[in-house]
Amino acid sequence: MSSITAEEFGLLAKYIHSICGVALDSTKTYLIETRLKSMMQQYSCASYMDLYNKVKADRSGNMEKEVVNAITTNETLFFRDASPFELFKHKILPDLIDARSKANPGRPVPIRIWSAACSTGQEVYSIAIALREALGNLNNFQISILGTDISDEAVTRASYGKYNKFEIERGLPAQTLNRYFTLMGDGWKIKDEIRAMAVFKKFNLMKPFTGMGRFDVVFCRNVAIYFTPMDKKLVFEKIAGVLEPDGSLVIGSTESLTGVTEAFEPRRYMRAIFYQPSGTPAGRFAPGVQPPSQPFAPRPVPAAPPAAPAASARPMGAPRAAAVAAPAAPRPAPTPATPIVPPRPEPPRPAVPAAPASPVMAAVTPMEPETQAPGEAAPSAPRRAPVRSQPAQVYRAGDKSDLKRLLMQKKQKAAS
Ligand SMILES: C[S@@+](CC[C@H](N)C(=O)[O-])C[C@H]1O[C@@H](n2cnc3c(N)ncnc32)[C@H](O)[C@@H]1O
Repeated sequence: MSSITAEEFGLLAKYIHSICGVALDSTKTYLIETRLKSMMQQYSCASYMDLYNKVKADRSGNMEKEVVNAITTNETLFFRDASPFELFKHKILPDLIDARSKANPGRPVPIRIWSAACSTGQEVYSIAIALREALGNLNNFQISILGTDISDEAVTRASYGKYNKFEIERGLPAQTLNRYFTLMGDGWKIKDEIRAMAVFKKFNLMKPFTGMGRFDVVFCRNVAIYFTPMDKKLVFEKIAGVLEPDGSLVIGSTESLTGVTEAFEPRRYMRAIFYQPSGTPAGRFAPGVQPPSQPFAPRPVPAAPPAAPAASARPMGAPRAAAVAAPAAPRPAPTPATPIVPPRPEPPRPAVPAAPASPVMAAVTPMEPETQAPGEAAPSAPRRAPVRSQPAQVYRAGDKSDLKRLLMQKKQKAAS
């Protein structure tokens, strides 16, 4: 088999960019060679030019799919980077539930999440498990998680939800494995109660987002790193167009939107950074984004809760303050989702008690202050903070530290 020439590389790189947006410069010659090697053999190609011509001539689209499957990097793992899932459970989700339960009093709280390059599904199931752990019984929620990827091989695997020992050992604590997976042959399969929370579809981020529906949270992690700066900008601006105004975008831990687009403003929560649509209309109606027609159909989620701690039995769908029978006292303010710049002067705060051990309680741990993310530029038009009538707090029955904190806060408020 001949090695790839500069001309062949140029043609194939241009073709690959046109079908999936993956940008390959001449330093990636080896990547095209190694990843397309098996197609070369399968289709008895004498040269890469021969393969290129066969792919271009294939009207069935099957060879194009094979190129996409071969070129895309599906590297992923459960709870990848950990902090995005902590951010999701402790900040994004509680804020979302507060906002949506106020907007839908007495009705199941809708939560729509999109994992926009979900690979073989680990990200989607990590989100679903995080939701289950944080919320316990999901009866009072209408949860829909959409997982999409350009690779149909990846989407098929994601949809099946079966993982081998190696994949399982990467990122899944034993307790989580036992609770949410079933041993099946040589691997582990996600349990139906988690599987049913998600819908998987093949979707190319380079295409218009028409008909995608709207989302409260989008995870678009570790995919835009393969795109040109222009494609990256367009993808994130299309995402801004399908996110609710108070929705959140989570990107990869090594990624940043600084200098990419002004459609988002960065926010910081503890060690994690996430993004929300900018206050200006620019991000809301980005070029190429049309109003959605048919959102994907959310499925009802079965109610069987995992072995969750008793504290999870709070009436869900109600604002967090109503969670546990507790003193009917004013709730301390969570940090409002203000733009991270300019940084706000922090008044002295009472000591915050240690984070509770229960995952459910952890989901509603008081918020850390948001500050400017390192290396992030000041957004030009800071977004106005959403008005909160009452800040949220959950009380654990029998826990005096909550009561003590309340009294301290009352004292402090009276003094200020
Ligand atoms: C490295 S994986 C990231 C998976 C997961 N988000 C994570 O962070 O673990 C990148 C995924 O992006 C997908 N991808 C690449 N180009 C894409 C495109 N144009 N549209 C949708 N997905 C794409 C690949 O198929 C691959 O599964």
